[in-house]
Amino acid sequence: MNNMETNLGANGTKTLNELKIDHLESLNEEALVGGGADRIEKQKAGGRLSARERLDVLLDPGSFVEIDKFAQHACQNFGMDDKKILGDGVITGYGRINGKLVYVYSQDFTVFGGSMSRTQANKICKIMEMAMKNGAPVIGLNDSGGARIQEGIEALGGYADIFLKNTIASGVVPQISAIMGPCAGGAVYSPSLTDFIFMVKDTSYMFVTGPEVIKSVTHEEVTKEELGGALTHNKKSGVAHFACENDKNCLLLIRELLSFLPGNNLDDPPYLPTKDRADRVEESLNTFIPDNSKKPYDMKQLINKVVDEGYFLEVQQHYAQNIIIGFARFNGRSVGIVANQPQVLAGCLNIESSIKAARFIRFCDAFNIPVVSFVDVPGFLPGTDQEWQGIITHGAKLLYAYAEATVPKVTLITRKAYGGAYDVMSSKHLRGDINLAYPSAEIAVMGADGAINIIFRNEIKNAKDPEAERQRLVKDYEDKFANPYVAAKVGYIDEVIEPAMTRKRIIDSLEMLKNKKDTNPPKKHGNIPL
Ligand code: HXC
Repeated sequence: MNNMETNLGANGTKTLNELKIDHLESLNEEALVGGGADRIEKQKAGGRLSARERLDVLLDPGSFVEIDKFAQHACQNFGMDDKKILGDGVITGYGRINGKLVYVYSQDFTVFGGSMSRTQANKICKIMEMAMKNGAPVIGLNDSGGARIQEGIEALGGYADIFLKNTIASGVVPQISAIMGPCAGGAVYSPSLTDFIFMVKDTSYMFVTGPEVIKSVTHEEVTKEELGGALTHNKKSGVAHFACENDKNCLLLIRELLSFLPGNNLDDPPYLPTKDRADRVEESLNTFIPDNSKKPYDMKQLINKVVDEGYFLEVQQHYAQNIIIGFARFNGRSVGIVANQPQVLAGCLNIESSIKAARFIRFCDAFNIPVVSFVDVPGFLPGTDQEWQGIITHGAKLLYAYAEATVPKVTLITRKAYGGAYDVMSSKHLRGDINLAYPSAEIAVMGADGAINIIFRNEIKNAKDPEAERQRLVKDYEDKFANPYVAAKVGYIDEVIEPAMTRKRIIDSLEMLKNKKDTNPPKKHGNIPL
């Protein structure tokens, strides 16, 4: 108090509190430079934004509030006690995206390579806990060389604490990871526990063990890009969900994705008013499905024709392209879309596509997002490769995901729905709420050729003209079963619709199901065939 009075002199000297505020300002300035101007320059020269610039692009302007800005590590090994940087290599806090609360962390590669320290882990866990309590998504911008080597076991403990939080938060708040630099070792496992992974082409990598270790253990030579670049994980492994051109595109795409998602599992997804009429008739759909049922067509075009303003945000577009997943809106409300793609593998279900769609459906179900399925599936992909790799178990994942989902489920069979794949693809029997079909739908236990060869093998063999007899029997089978009316007769299909009316009918169904309540029996958790 006395000091303060002393400082209040007429000569313009500052009060003690003003000096304290100056000190705070200098600390704030120090925290802003992270690992220093040179390292920030190097980061940018590599085509990347700095950790703080990334938050500027991601969040609504001026909305970011930082937490734990002055946190420091406590490591004393290898001279680390002399190397302390405010914030310790990760910027954490909260902000807004399209006005909605989100929690964020952004690793700063300029500080010890963004490596995970005990302090970093504490900071990340703190905002994750806040996110769960307050029901808002967590977005992690990852740019890290893995566990901080100087800290050893404490860094490992920190990782495990984050993994636990990721697991507990799964299905409670959406968790999104962007990989924006080299992410090695432990740095890849937290993202893999989250709901969606974004990667940036040419500047981001994910691997458990890097090229050097691989070379020394298996003598394989592989580049970083081949091993764990954005296209590798988007096309080959299916680990990532989006491949972006650069940091800025990546961050803007995260904003886009969030526009479809609720803040938590108790909220409804956001509503976005649209000028696209709910009763819009799409005449072109009446001639869209080819008359020849062996001819492929692009299911994405069909989706674009019926969703609000033709806008469909595809997820995992480069992986298992025989199934399409993604978000769109019908009359302003978010839906998850799952659709067979006749253009790839004739739309057959295989291991990759089953896993891809199953995880997506579970995400939608966890976050109250209705699932709309477009079905044109000739069956499961046959072959030793699929059988030996366990299509039985993996195909069952999709079955399980549809069966356990209690969100509104609207299904439209555009053409083929054969065999087990008919059951799997959100059929009535798996609690499909509204099951529609086009007049071109073929709903049967199997295709006509296969069926005839099995049940009329002897008749064909003994016929005077076996080929003519075979063709007659195939036609007879097709007339009987290659249509939607057998299923409609027994209530497996609720309505056979004119294709032009697709948008209206899907919207009618979703509006009718808006207050749907369905539950599963109380249990600790199910045992999905992993
Ligand atoms: C401490 C690290 C670090 C780490 C990088 N740095 N990784 N410091 N711990 N894990 C530091 C470097 O010393 C360097 O400091 C600065 O960050 C930039 O690193 P560079 O190597 O110059 O950058 P670059 O050439 O771009 O290479 C990036 C990299 C490489 C590919 C990530 O740094 C690397 O291979 N790091 C180690 C990866 C790794 O093996 N991590 C441990 C995994 S074990 P200066 O002062 O020079 O700027 C693990 C176990 C957890 O994570 C398992 C849990 C399940």
